[in-house]
Amino acid sequence: MAEKIQQIQENPDKEKAQLKQRLSRIRHTIMVMSGKGGVGKSTVTANLAASLSLEGYRVGILDGDIHGPNIPKILGVEGQQLLGSGDGEINPIEAAENLKVVSVGSILENPDQPIIWRGPMKHSIMRHFLKDVNWGDLDFLVVDLPPGTGDEPLSIAQIIKEAHAGSSPFAIVVTTPQDVALLDSRKSVKFSRVLELQLLGIIENMSGMACRIAENPSTCSRRAGASSLHRNSRFPSSGPSPSIPPLSRTPTTGSRSYSGTMIRQRRLHSGISSKRF
Ligand SMILES: Nc1ncnc2c1ncn2[C@@H]1O[C@H](COP(=O)(O)OP(=O)(O)OP(=O)(O)O)[C@@H](O)[C@H]1O
Ligand SMILES: [Mg+2]
Repeated sequence: MAEKIQQIQENPDKEKAQLKQRLSRIRHTIMVMSGKGGVGKSTVTANLAASLSLEGYRVGILDGDIHGPNIPKILGVEGQQLLGSGDGEINPIEAAENLKVVSVGSILENPDQPIIWRGPMKHSIMRHFLKDVNWGDLDFLVVDLPPGTGDEPLSIAQIIKEAHAGSSPFAIVVTTPQDVALLDSRKSVKFSRVLELQLLGIIENMSGMACRIAENPSTCSRRAGASSLHRNSRFPSSGPSPSIPPLSRTPTTGSRSYSGTMIRQRRLHSGISSKRF
């Protein structure tokens, strides 16, 4: 890894051309962000990506959460290692048909090993994951990000803009109904504006509780907290997304079940589709 990063620093022009070439095969990048931790970014990323892949789109997930890479676990591919293709490229993990995944979690030999990196190292690994991964042709690259407006979202946005001659990635902000989550989410909305990201919408996750018996979600938390955020930011909302069982494997078949939260993400997805990419 350190050798690869050194090579990048030694051949900046070649590296830029390679990055541009690679990203020219990715139609749309969607960054999933939030100001607060634990609000469901990784869950939304996994469900949105799975939903899109089930509709036949070619989808990649870049797990941009270097310190807490949860995507392999959520998709049930933890323990699978990323492998090189021999010519310096990395082959992504095929989590399902039309669904490729790359994560720092799939490089670590010990999942409990912490990554202790400063900003420049994080920027380099993001570039590496965008440039040297054999993504092939993708309709969507969905990027799961850590909370906040720090190095990772900044790096992804800058790299994509640089390679796509200024065209911006899309962004989705995830929040929960609590005041503190909303407070921090406003920062993500403003961050999107400052970086001129195309904000697709705001998801109010874990709002209410889906019940297998009752038709409507019960209100166990303050609802519609994000609606003021939507009103003030003028961006669409997916509507409240209640607490429901997350992704799981179907035990009998071993195949992955993407029901549950995906149903809600589909609603957001239809909003995304109607934007005519
Ligand atoms: N709609 C939902 N219903 C039930 N559980 C959910 C829902 N959304 C997320 N969760 C659960 O909440 C926890 C946090 O979700 P997740 O890891 O996706 O959040 P995150 O924003 O990515 O966190 P971090 O900031 O640490 O990366 C997980 O255990 C996840 O399974
Ligand atoms: Mg996460």
